[in-house]
Amino acid sequence: MNSKAQVRLAIIGGTGVYDPRILADIREESVSTPYGDVNLRIGTYEGEEVAFLPRHGAKHSVPPHLINYRANIMALKQIGVERVIATTAVGSLNKAMKPGDFVLVDQFLDFTKNRAATFFEGGEMGVVHTDFTEPYCPECRAVLSRAAKEIGITAHDGGCYVCTEGPRFETPAEIRMFATFGGDLVGMTNVPEVTLAREAGLCYATVSMVTNFAAGISPQALTHEEVLEVMAENAENLKRLVMGTLTGIPRERGCTCGRSAGAMKV
Ligand code: HPA
Repeated sequence: MNSKAQVRLAIIGGTGVYDPRILADIREESVSTPYGDVNLRIGTYEGEEVAFLPRHGAKHSVPPHLINYRANIMALKQIGVERVIATTAVGSLNKAMKPGDFVLVDQFLDFTKNRAATFFEGGEMGVVHTDFTEPYCPECRAVLSRAAKEIGITAHDGGCYVCTEGPRFETPAEIRMFATFGGDLVGMTNVPEVTLAREAGLCYATVSMVTNFAAGISPQALTHEEVLEVMAENAENLKRLVMGTLTGIPRERGCTCGRSAGAMKV
């Protein structure tokens, strides 16, 4: 069914963040979109309704290249969401961003290859070119940064996320190239999630958790288990940071995400 409730805030939980019990009075809702159905959990936090969407499915069964990003973002838009806080696990190319650190991403480099990456496919939608000068919502990032300081968590304010197609990890040669291009972090999911959110006129901010140094920088081979272990060790801080952010987000949007050039009007 399609929800009529106005749920303004959403959390997209990445690797290691599957548990919606941070919210109270949770209900399940299936939202039909032109791109497929999406199962959401909706609950309350401090009196505010919040949608929770585990990006890889509740049991981490959907790999990055098979996630239905368009359905996910469209489902959030359809239920009235205006602001999305997403978590991602990332490898680091930047020696200053160490395993266990949080990074509030402000730019991305797109190295994905085979993903449906836009809502604007011509026809009735027309030919649309969305502005991406500021891909991540500055207002939500500022709230994340403030919440991190209040909680006493170190969060790097700004970082460039390189998105690869996956699901394999990178070669050291790729990582060297990404570093010369200005990348700080590498992951497999932020694009097209961030681009679709902006096309849909939603505010979108990402808090990335560094789980490892990237291939060739790390002294050992990379494993998904290592990523999960570091996420688990820092899950509590990540949860506190996301919840602290939800309470700090102003009711009225002071940013331009909903009315930037080429964004669907909310
Ligand atoms: N590469 C890509 N994705 C990742 C990594 C990595 O090193 N660590 C966590 N997600």
